Amino acid sequence: MAHLLVTGGAGYIGSHALRALRRAHHTAVVIDDLSNGRADFVQDAPLLRRDIGDRDALARAFASHGPFDAVLHFAARASVAESVANPLRYYRDNVAASATLIEVAMRHGVRGFVLSSTAAVYGHPDFQPIPESAPLSPINPYGASKAMVERMLADVEEAHGMRWSALRYFNACGADPEGGIGEWHEPETHLIPLALEAAAGLRPELKLYGTDYATRDGTCIRDYVHVTDLAEAHVLALESLLEDGPGGTYNLGTGSGHSNREVIAAINEAVGLTVPYRNAARREGDPPELVADASRFQRDLGWRPSRSDLRTILRTAWSWIQESRGEELETAGGVEVDAFIR
Ligand SMILES: NC(=O)c1ccc[n+]([C@@H]2O[C@H](COP(=O)([O-])OP(=O)(O)OC[C@H]3O[C@@H](n4cnc5c(N)ncnc54)[C@H](O)[C@@H]3O)[C@@H](O)[C@H]2O)c1
Repeated sequence: MAHLLVTGGAGYIGSHALRALRRAHHTAVVIDDLSNGRADFVQDAPLLRRDIGDRDALARAFASHGPFDAVLHFAARASVAESVANPLRYYRDNVAASATLIEVAMRHGVRGFVLSSTAAVYGHPDFQPIPESAPLSPINPYGASKAMVERMLADVEEAHGMRWSALRYFNACGADPEGGIGEWHEPETHLIPLALEAAAGLRPELKLYGTDYATRDGTCIRDYVHVTDLAEAHVLALESLLEDGPGGTYNLGTGSGHSNREVIAAINEAVGLTVPYRNAARREGDPPELVADASRFQRDLGWRPSRSDLRTILRTAWSWIQESRGEELETAGGVEVDAFIR
């Protein structure tokens, strides 16, 4: 059993990781400033409402709630568009704050560090599926900020021996089948919640950004991975570091992609709703296709994503919307909540 510090544990992926850690009998303390998270997502773990860039607050947290065996670092700004508009916020909150966290963790004898990284470190890759060895060539400050923290961790391991893994998620989606937590971002920018909300009448329509890509149906292709599969990957990565097993950079995806149009069609099949959508111009910076070669993580750590088929993803994402926004659903679209699959 390990004792962990989880930054960003009140957010979407961090709260799912907390559940997986608890199921694996680890204990955790959460640091989250609730700038984009929800206290109720933390469930029964202690929540310290602090900014991870605040060195004194971090040091106090380590002194009073540690010693921690490892840190799982989810807290970050994570909007590509915002990072282009306000790059310094990303270099401050993602890069500088992570440097502070890594330094405090190291000084307090933390043995392992797991970073939430992203497919955005690859930019526009030349081939698919993308292996970890593909060149890092981020095209926006968000992707650049994550690549910098990865580099920082590699340098710190070399100099001081603190072990690390950076998990490069492709598209996180879905919700824990047990309920109580799910995708909640303000503003929401991810396709699946946006499409489900449009289908349920919670927003007027879905904008389909770009229909002229050189893909099988002209729309972008992404690799969707269920958040509970991602959460379990964190437990594997953490335990491997603490047992002197493999670490480093890993892609987390399924190895196959779905186009935006395929996701829209699958919503009809999986949850019986029709997505109203409108074709719109391409969004700047969207690569046509991002599909992971995740064979390294599967081989090194035996990870087998078991919920990342589109049907399970959509049904759990829809259950979460039903659970969390039931009243709005009935007034917004005249949708009878119970009329659909839970
Ligand atoms: N959602 C995805 O598809 C996806 C894909 C790739 C990578 N990621 C990465 O995964 C991580 C988690 O993503 P998410 O979708 O759960 O995001 P999220 O916004 O739901 O969670 C991030 C959490 O961190 C907290 N936070 C942010 N800055 C903080 C700070 N300075 N101090 C303390 N707390 C702070 C927020 O309040 C929030 O609860 C992020 O690092 C993100 O870059 C997400």
